Amino acid sequence: MTGKRFEGKTAIVTGAARGMGRAIAQTLAREGAAVVVNDVKREGAEQVVREIEAAGGQAMAYIADISRDNEVHAMVQATVARFGTVDILVNNAGILGNTRPLEEIPGDEWDQMMAINVKGVFNCTKAVLPLMKARRSGKIVNVSSSAGRSTSTFGGAHYTTSKAAILGLTRHTAREAAPYNINVNATAPGSMDTEMVRERATPEHIRSEEQSIPLRRLGTAQDEANLVAFLCSDESSYIAGATIDINGADLLL
Ligand SMILES: NC(=O)c1ccc[n+]([C@@H]2O[C@H](COP(=O)([O-])OP(=O)(O)OC[C@H]3O[C@@H](n4cnc5c(N)ncnc54)[C@H](O)[C@@H]3O)[C@@H](O)[C@H]2O)c1
Repeated sequence: MTGKRFEGKTAIVTGAARGMGRAIAQTLAREGAAVVVNDVKREGAEQVVREIEAAGGQAMAYIADISRDNEVHAMVQATVARFGTVDILVNNAGILGNTRPLEEIPGDEWDQMMAINVKGVFNCTKAVLPLMKARRSGKIVNVSSSAGRSTSTFGGAHYTTSKAAILGLTRHTAREAAPYNINVNATAPGSMDTEMVRERATPEHIRSEEQSIPLRRLGTAQDEANLVAFLCSDESSYIAGATIDINGADLLL
Protein backbone atom coordinates (compact mmCIF):
# COMPACT_ATOMS: atom_id res chain seq x y z
CA MET A 1 0.00 0.00 0.00
CA THR A 2 1.21 3.47 -0.87
CA GLY A 3 -1.20 5.50 1.24
CA LYS A 4 -2.61 7.11 -1.89
CA ARG A 5 -6.36 7.75 -1.65
CA PHE A 6 -7.33 6.05 -4.92
CA GLU A 7 -4.87 3.16 -5.13
CA GLY A 8 -6.53 0.23 -6.96
CA LYS A 9 -9.49 2.36 -8.10
CA THR A 10 -10.58 3.09 -11.66
CA ALA A 11 -12.07 6.44 -12.62
CA ILE A 12 -13.75 7.75 -15.75
CA VAL A 13 -13.49 11.53 -16.12
CA THR A 14 -15.54 12.99 -18.98
CA GLY A 15 -14.35 16.07 -20.85
CA ALA A 16 -10.83 15.60 -19.51
CA ALA A 17 -8.79 16.85 -22.50
CA ARG A 18 -8.46 20.29 -20.91
CA GLY A 19 -9.71 22.60 -18.17
CA MET A 20 -11.17 21.22 -14.98
CA GLY A 21 -11.51 17.68 -16.36
CA ARG A 22 -7.78 17.58 -17.08
CA ALA A 23 -6.95 18.73 -13.53
CA ILE A 24 -9.41 16.21 -12.06
CA ALA A 25 -7.92 13.35 -14.13
CA GLN A 26 -4.38 14.31 -13.14
CA THR A 27 -5.28 14.64 -9.46
CA LEU A 28 -7.05 11.27 -9.27
CA ALA A 29 -4.15 9.63 -11.15
CA ARG A 30 -1.56 11.25 -8.86
CA GLU A 31 -3.41 9.69 -5.95
CA GLY A 32 -3.27 6.22 -7.49
CA ALA A 33 -6.37 5.85 -9.69
CA ALA A 34 -6.23 4.36 -13.17
CA VAL A 35 -8.01 7.06 -15.17
CA VAL A 36 -10.00 6.95 -18.39
CA VAL A 37 -9.50 10.36 -19.98
CA ASN A 38 -12.67 10.86 -22.02
CA ASP A 39 -13.26 13.66 -24.48
CA VAL A 40 -14.30 14.34 -28.06
CA LYS A 41 -10.88 15.96 -28.58
CA ARG A 42 -8.39 13.19 -29.33
CA GLU A 43 -5.20 15.24 -29.31
CA GLY A 44 -5.90 16.84 -25.94
CA ALA A 45 -7.01 13.57 -24.35
CA GLU A 46 -3.88 11.75 -25.55
CA GLN A 47 -1.71 14.60 -24.28
CA VAL A 48 -3.28 14.33 -20.80
CA VAL A 49 -2.62 10.58 -20.83
CA ARG A 50 1.05 11.23 -21.70
CA GLU A 51 1.28 13.74 -18.83
CA ILE A 52 -0.23 11.25 -16.37
CA GLU A 53 2.07 8.45 -17.54
CA ALA A 54 5.12 10.73 -17.37
CA ALA A 55 4.23 11.40 -13.72
CA GLY A 56 4.12 7.63 -13.07
CA GLY A 57 0.35 7.20 -13.27
CA GLN A 58 -1.94 4.97 -15.28
CA ALA A 59 -4.40 6.29 -17.87
CA MET A 60 -6.18 5.56 -21.13
CA ALA A 61 -7.69 8.03 -23.57
CA TYR A 62 -11.17 7.20 -24.78
CA ILE A 63 -12.83 9.31 -27.44
CA ALA A 64 -16.59 9.24 -27.03
CA ASP A 65 -19.37 11.79 -27.33
CA ILE A 66 -21.23 11.48 -24.03
CA SER A 67 -24.51 12.46 -25.69
CA ARG A 68 -24.43 9.17 -27.64
CA ASP A 69 -25.40 6.23 -25.47
CA ASN A 70 -23.78 3.63 -27.74
CA GLU A 71 -20.41 5.42 -27.50
CA VAL A 72 -20.73 5.71 -23.72
CA HIS A 73 -21.62 2.03 -23.42
CA ALA A 74 -18.54 1.09 -25.50
CA MET A 75 -16.36 3.34 -23.31
CA VAL A 76 -17.51 1.59 -20.14
CA GLN A 77 -16.91 -1.80 -21.74
CA ALA A 78 -13.41 -0.73 -22.79
CA THR A 79 -12.73 0.52 -19.26
CA VAL A 80 -13.76 -2.80 -17.75
CA ALA A 81 -11.66 -4.68 -20.32
CA ARG A 82 -8.56 -2.61 -19.50
CA PHE A 83 -8.91 -1.86 -15.78
CA GLY A 84 -11.50 -4.36 -14.47
CA THR A 85 -14.35 -2.11 -13.29
CA VAL A 86 -15.44 1.49 -12.69
CA ASP A 87 -15.21 2.79 -9.13
CA ILE A 88 -15.48 6.52 -9.83
CA LEU A 89 -17.36 8.52 -12.46
CA VAL A 90 -16.81 12.25 -12.80
CA ASN A 91 -19.42 13.77 -15.12
CA ASN A 92 -17.45 16.88 -16.01
CA ALA A 93 -17.90 17.33 -19.78
CA GLY A 94 -20.12 20.20 -20.79
CA ILE A 95 -20.57 23.00 -23.28
CA LEU A 96 -21.31 26.67 -22.65
CA GLY A 97 -23.01 27.49 -25.94
CA ASN A 98 -23.57 30.98 -27.24
CA THR A 99 -24.55 33.84 -24.99
CA ARG A 100 -27.66 35.47 -26.36
CA PRO A 101 -31.16 36.36 -25.18
CA LEU A 102 -33.59 33.44 -24.93
CA GLU A 103 -35.66 34.54 -27.91
CA GLU A 104 -32.53 34.29 -30.10
CA ILE A 105 -31.49 30.78 -29.03
CA PRO A 106 -32.08 28.41 -31.97
CA GLY A 107 -34.04 25.28 -31.07
CA ASP A 108 -31.25 22.98 -32.26
CA GLU A 109 -28.75 24.77 -30.00
CA TRP A 110 -31.13 24.21 -27.07
CA ASP A 111 -31.36 20.51 -27.98
CA GLN A 112 -27.57 20.14 -28.26
CA MET A 113 -27.09 21.76 -24.84
CA MET A 114 -29.54 19.33 -23.22
CA ALA A 115 -28.08 16.36 -25.14
CA ILE A 116 -24.54 16.99 -23.88
CA ASN A 117 -24.96 18.71 -20.51
CA VAL A 118 -27.92 16.70 -19.24
CA LYS A 119 -28.40 13.51 -21.27
CA GLY A 120 -24.62 13.00 -21.28
CA VAL A 121 -24.68 12.79 -17.47
CA PHE A 122 -27.67 10.41 -17.65
CA ASN A 123 -25.94 8.20 -20.27
CA CYS A 124 -22.69 7.87 -18.30
CA THR A 125 -24.45 7.33 -14.98
CA LYS A 126 -26.78 4.70 -16.49
CA ALA A 127 -23.81 2.84 -17.97
CA VAL A 128 -21.79 2.60 -14.73
CA LEU A 129 -24.54 2.12 -12.11
CA PRO A 130 -25.07 -1.63 -12.71
CA LEU A 131 -21.33 -2.21 -12.13
CA MET A 132 -21.32 -0.10 -8.98
CA LYS A 133 -24.54 -1.63 -7.64
CA ALA A 134 -23.22 -5.15 -8.16
CA ARG A 135 -20.10 -4.28 -6.13
CA ARG A 136 -22.05 -2.17 -3.62
CA SER A 137 -19.53 0.62 -3.96
CA GLY A 138 -19.07 3.72 -6.06
CA LYS A 139 -18.62 7.49 -6.28
CA ILE A 140 -20.27 9.74 -8.85
CA VAL A 141 -19.59 13.46 -9.03
CA ASN A 142 -21.59 15.66 -11.38
CA VAL A 143 -20.12 19.04 -12.31
CA SER A 144 -23.00 21.51 -12.32
CA SER A 145 -22.39 25.25 -11.93
CA SER A 146 -23.41 28.25 -9.89
CA ALA A 147 -25.47 28.87 -13.05
CA GLY A 148 -27.63 25.93 -11.95
CA ARG A 149 -28.18 27.56 -8.54
CA SER A 150 -28.67 31.08 -9.85
CA THR A 151 -28.03 32.28 -13.43
CA SER A 152 -25.01 32.13 -15.71
CA THR A 153 -22.77 35.15 -16.17
CA PHE A 154 -21.12 33.72 -19.32
CA GLY A 155 -23.80 31.48 -20.91
CA GLY A 156 -27.45 31.70 -21.94
CA ALA A 157 -30.77 30.43 -20.54
CA HIS A 158 -30.13 26.99 -22.03
CA TYR A 159 -26.84 26.66 -20.11
CA THR A 160 -28.48 27.76 -16.85
CA THR A 161 -31.35 25.30 -17.43
CA SER A 162 -29.00 22.41 -18.20
CA LYS A 163 -26.96 23.01 -15.05
CA ALA A 164 -30.13 23.24 -12.90
CA ALA A 165 -31.28 19.91 -14.41
CA ILE A 166 -28.03 18.28 -13.27
CA LEU A 167 -28.88 19.21 -9.68
CA GLY A 168 -32.24 17.41 -9.88
CA LEU A 169 -30.61 14.43 -11.54
CA THR A 170 -27.98 14.36 -8.80
CA ARG A 171 -30.54 14.39 -5.98
CA HIS A 172 -32.67 11.67 -7.56
CA THR A 173 -29.75 9.42 -8.46
CA ALA A 174 -28.28 9.90 -4.98
CA ARG A 175 -31.47 8.58 -3.32
CA GLU A 176 -31.67 5.57 -5.63
CA ALA A 177 -27.98 4.71 -5.37
CA ALA A 178 -27.32 5.32 -1.67
CA PRO A 179 -28.73 1.95 -0.49
CA TYR A 180 -25.99 0.37 -2.64
CA ASN A 181 -23.26 2.38 -0.88
CA ILE A 182 -22.86 4.65 -3.88
CA ASN A 183 -22.34 8.37 -3.20
CA VAL A 184 -23.69 10.75 -5.82
CA ASN A 185 -22.95 14.45 -5.38
CA ALA A 186 -22.63 17.61 -7.43
CA THR A 187 -20.26 20.55 -7.43
CA ALA A 188 -21.36 24.06 -8.33
CA PRO A 189 -18.29 26.00 -9.47
CA GLY A 190 -18.51 29.76 -9.86
CA SER A 191 -16.30 31.49 -12.42
CA MET A 192 -13.26 29.30 -13.04
CA ASP A 193 -10.16 30.19 -15.01
CA THR A 194 -10.34 27.70 -17.90
CA GLU A 195 -10.35 27.84 -21.69
CA MET A 196 -14.17 27.71 -21.63
CA VAL A 197 -14.24 31.13 -19.97
CA ARG A 198 -11.10 32.58 -21.65
CA GLU A 199 -12.54 31.75 -25.10
CA ARG A 200 -15.78 33.54 -24.32
CA ALA A 201 -15.05 36.51 -22.09
CA THR A 202 -13.05 39.62 -22.93
CA PRO A 203 -10.15 40.48 -20.58
CA GLU A 204 -12.30 43.38 -19.27
CA HIS A 205 -15.18 41.03 -18.50
CA ILE A 206 -12.80 38.71 -16.63
CA ARG A 207 -11.31 41.65 -14.68
CA SER A 208 -14.74 42.90 -13.62
CA GLU A 209 -15.74 39.33 -12.70
CA GLU A 210 -12.62 39.05 -10.51
CA GLN A 211 -13.48 42.31 -8.76
CA SER A 212 -17.03 41.14 -8.03
CA ILE A 213 -15.87 37.89 -6.39
CA PRO A 214 -15.13 38.42 -2.67
CA LEU A 215 -11.93 36.31 -2.89
CA ARG A 216 -10.93 38.62 -5.79
CA ARG A 217 -9.93 35.89 -8.23
CA LEU A 218 -11.45 33.26 -10.48
CA GLY A 219 -11.25 29.70 -9.23
CA THR A 220 -8.57 27.44 -10.69
CA ALA A 221 -9.03 24.02 -12.26
CA GLN A 222 -7.02 22.64 -9.34
CA ASP A 223 -9.43 24.20 -6.81
CA GLU A 224 -12.21 22.15 -8.43
CA ALA A 225 -10.05 19.03 -8.73
CA ASN A 226 -9.30 19.16 -4.98
CA LEU A 227 -13.04 19.24 -4.21
CA VAL A 228 -13.85 16.44 -6.64
CA ALA A 229 -11.06 14.27 -5.19
CA PHE A 230 -12.51 14.80 -1.71
CA LEU A 231 -15.97 13.76 -2.96
CA CYS A 232 -14.45 10.65 -4.56
CA SER A 233 -12.60 9.68 -1.38
CA ASP A 234 -13.56 7.75 1.75
CA GLU A 235 -13.31 11.02 3.70
CA SER A 236 -16.69 12.10 2.28
CA SER A 237 -18.50 8.79 2.81
CA TYR A 238 -21.54 10.38 4.53
CA ILE A 239 -21.96 13.12 1.92
CA ALA A 240 -24.60 12.03 -0.61
CA GLY A 241 -27.10 14.00 -2.66
CA ALA A 242 -25.29 17.23 -1.86
CA THR A 243 -24.32 20.14 -4.07
CA ILE A 244 -21.10 21.80 -2.91
CA ASP A 245 -20.56 25.43 -3.93
CA ILE A 246 -17.02 26.41 -4.89
CA ASN A 247 -17.16 30.06 -5.81
CA GLY A 248 -14.90 32.30 -3.70
CA ALA A 249 -17.85 33.53 -1.58
CA ASP A 250 -19.74 34.72 -4.65
CA LEU A 251 -22.83 33.95 -2.64
CA LEU A 252 -25.49 33.76 -5.36
CA LEU A 253 -27.61 36.40 -3.58
N1 LIG B 1 -15.17 27.38 -16.39
C1 LIG B 1 -16.16 27.76 -15.59
O1 LIG B 1 -16.23 28.91 -15.15
C2 LIG B 1 -17.23 26.78 -15.16
C3 LIG B 1 -18.05 27.14 -14.08
C4 LIG B 1 -19.02 26.25 -13.66
C5 LIG B 1 -19.16 25.02 -14.26
N2 LIG B 1 -18.36 24.70 -15.31
C6 LIG B 1 -18.55 23.37 -15.89
O2 LIG B 1 -17.40 22.60 -15.62
C7 LIG B 1 -17.19 21.63 -16.64
C8 LIG B 1 -15.78 21.79 -17.20
O3 LIG B 1 -15.64 23.12 -17.64
P1 LIG B 1 -14.28 23.73 -18.21
O4 LIG B 1 -14.31 25.17 -17.88
O5 LIG B 1 -13.13 22.90 -17.81
O6 LIG B 1 -14.61 23.59 -19.77
P2 LIG B 1 -13.70 23.26 -21.05
O7 LIG B 1 -14.47 23.73 -22.23
O8 LIG B 1 -12.33 23.83 -20.85
O9 LIG B 1 -13.63 21.68 -21.03
C9 LIG B 1 -14.77 20.90 -21.31
C10 LIG B 1 -14.32 19.65 -22.05
O10 LIG B 1 -15.49 18.87 -22.33
C11 LIG B 1 -15.33 18.33 -23.64
N3 LIG B 1 -16.62 17.96 -24.22
C12 LIG B 1 -17.56 18.81 -24.73
N4 LIG B 1 -18.58 18.11 -25.24
C13 LIG B 1 -18.30 16.80 -25.04
C14 LIG B 1 -19.00 15.60 -25.35
N5 LIG B 1 -20.16 15.62 -25.99
N6 LIG B 1 -18.43 14.41 -24.99
C15 LIG B 1 -17.22 14.39 -24.36
N7 LIG B 1 -16.52 15.51 -24.05
C16 LIG B 1 -17.06 16.70 -24.38
C17 LIG B 1 -14.65 19.44 -24.42
O11 LIG B 1 -14.05 18.96 -25.61
C18 LIG B 1 -13.65 19.98 -23.40
O12 LIG B 1 -12.40 19.37 -23.51
C19 LIG B 1 -18.30 21.88 -17.67
O13 LIG B 1 -19.38 21.02 -17.42
C20 LIG B 1 -18.71 23.32 -17.37
O14 LIG B 1 -20.03 23.58 -17.78
C21 LIG B 1 -17.39 25.54 -15.77
